[in-house]
Amino acid sequence: MGKSVVNPYEIKGAVNYDRLVKEFGITKIDEKLIKRIEKLVGEVHPFIRRGIFFAHRDLEKILDAYEKGEKFFLYTGIGPSGPIHLGHIQTWRLVKWLQDKFNVELWFQFTDDEKFLYKDMSYEEIQKWTKENMLDVIALGLDPKKTHFLIDTKHAGIMYPEAIKVAKKITFSMIKGAFGFTDSNNIGSIFYTAMQTVPVFLPNVLNNKHERCLIPLGVDQEPHFRISRDVIEKLGHIKPAIIHSKMMIPLTGIEGKMSSTEPDKAILMTDSPSEIKKKINKHAFSGGQDTVEEHRKKGGNVEVDVACQWLKYFEEDDKKLEEIYSKYRKGELLSGEVKKILIEKVQVFLAEHQKRRANAEKLIDKFVYSKK
Ligand code: TRP
Repeated sequence: MGKSVVNPYEIKGAVNYDRLVKEFGITKIDEKLIKRIEKLVGEVHPFIRRGIFFAHRDLEKILDAYEKGEKFFLYTGIGPSGPIHLGHIQTWRLVKWLQDKFNVELWFQFTDDEKFLYKDMSYEEIQKWTKENMLDVIALGLDPKKTHFLIDTKHAGIMYPEAIKVAKKITFSMIKGAFGFTDSNNIGSIFYTAMQTVPVFLPNVLNNKHERCLIPLGVDQEPHFRISRDVIEKLGHIKPAIIHSKMMIPLTGIEGKMSSTEPDKAILMTDSPSEIKKKINKHAFSGGQDTVEEHRKKGGNVEVDVACQWLKYFEEDDKKLEEIYSKYRKGELLSGEVKKILIEKVQVFLAEHQKRRANAEKLIDKFVYSKK
């Protein structure tokens, strides 16, 4: 296994999350914090309970504010350069839960500029994906009254004046250090972190408020916000709080992350029931033994079995999940049988998503930010 790499533009190898916590200087979400969330809103989302959201920065400060009756807002985003897959959607399922439970606004950034600058794609192609991706975000069932889409090139008029203030505080050497850039990276990509920083405080600028911001994200995005946190107090804004999610592993096993450029390794939000079945049966890495006899005798490895791991996202009942794991470990359940359980769960999940997605286009205007 090679050295693992985690940053917004590269994920390589199997990610060691304990090591990331140390390297990034983030804090593990512990039992005490989980209990505190439970006490505040009456329950805890399974993704937090199960350690999928495993680390944070300043989450206590958000909860302190909430306890005092102060509002905060959520911010997350997507770089639109391809179809949405199951890996993207998991962070957003938690975002939806947070919006509902804490009754807060969400600002959702579509970074069409970022993807244009970083990918070998035309501006028009990126615009197509921006719209496609919006449909999937709307299909999460977010509340349009409390959700605002920011599209970087479309909202440039309100974002750019703030982005230059941020950019003035960031040096090229900070960007090089965070992303490993060299002199041959294009200058737009060097500037881009300023644009991703803007929504951390833009709602406050627009509405003349001073609320805290909480960013749920895949941990690969952390380097951008480490820079944001370093500079924005100089501009009179509050450092954002963050909760970090582990990356959903690709179908082919625990190395790397899911990507829509490798459709075999991912399940897309638009995949049909038969595609779901085919992909999982054909590609999901098995933690089972080579023969049925051996499997019955030695049992399977839950930790590397993709179907077992993916069930964390789709089997909400802790008891049922534990039962599947324990039977698989003992060899009572075969890999094919766990895959079958997963296939059915994913088929139901995506059928519901696709129904909402088919209805989403006419809602776009309700979500895209415009000044009231
Ligand atoms: N850079 C992210 C991507 O490539 C998109 C993004 C913008 C984002 N703002 C964010 C992700 C805030 C998480 C949180 O997909």
